[in-house]
Amino acid sequence: MDGNGRWAKKRLLPRVAGHQRGVECLRETVKACGALGVEYLTVFAFSSENWRRPADEVSFLMQLFLKMLQREVSKLHENNIKLKVIGDLARFDDELNRHIRDAENLTVNNTGLTLTIAANYGGRWDIMNATRAMLKSRPELMDNFSEADLEPYLSMHYAPEPDLFIRTGGEQRISNFLLWQLAYTELYFTETLWPAFDRTELEAAINSYQQRERRFGRTSDQLLGDQLPDEKSANTKITGEQHNA
Ligand code: IPE
Ligand code: MG
Repeated sequence: MDGNGRWAKKRLLPRVAGHQRGVECLRETVKACGALGVEYLTVFAFSSENWRRPADEVSFLMQLFLKMLQREVSKLHENNIKLKVIGDLARFDDELNRHIRDAENLTVNNTGLTLTIAANYGGRWDIMNATRAMLKSRPELMDNFSEADLEPYLSMHYAPEPDLFIRTGGEQRISNFLLWQLAYTELYFTETLWPAFDRTELEAAINSYQQRERRFGRTSDQLLGDQLPDEKSANTKITGEQHNA
C-alpha cells in the first residue's frame, strides 16, 4: 500500500493525512474483496525498514494501527472476516500486542475473507525465522530438509500462495514483502497512489490477472491439454470463476 505520503503532499497536507486516508482505502478494499469472493487478502502495512522513518511518523503509524484495531475489529467480526497479523511483533508495545492477540482470537473461527496485516514484516526475516524455528523443533533436519519441511514454519503457512500481487504508488519492486510465497505470483504495478486505490482500480488489477496465462514452468501447449494437477490456488481464488484454464 504505497503512496500515502505523495498523495498528501500533492494536496499540501501532512504525510500522516495520507496514512489516515489509506486506512479508509483499506476498509473499502476489504469490503470489495469480500464481495468479489477473494479468500485471502494480505496487506503490507509496515515493513521492518519503516522504523527508519522520522520518529513522529512511526509513532503516528503505531497509533493508527492501534486505533484501527480498536475501532474496526468488531466490524470485521460481524462480516465473518478472520484477522491475522504477521511480522516480528516483539518490537511493538504490550498494548498493541494485546489488541492484536484479542483481535485474532475473536475472529479465529470466522470463515469469510482472511485479512492478514503484515506489520514489522520482512520477507527475509520470515525465511530466517522459519528456518530457526524449524531447526529448533526438529534438529534432525539440520543436514537435510525440504521446502515442505520449512513451509509450516513460515508466517503465511495457513494460506495458499498468492495469485496476485498489487503494488500501488508507481515503484516496481517487491521491497522485501512475501519473498518465499511470491515465487509464482502474478505481479501488478500501478501508478495510482494507495489513497486513491478504489474498487475500479482493484477490478483493473484482477482483470489484468485474468488475462495472464499461468504456466508454472510448463508450455502453453501443455496447458491446452489435460487439466493441471495440484496447482494449489491457481485459477480459482480470485472470483471463484474459471480463469485461463
Ligand atoms: C505507504 O505510503 C504507507 C506505509 C509505508 C505505512 P508511504 O508513506 O510510503 O508514501 P510515499 O511513498 O512516501 O508516497
Ligand atoms: Mg513509499
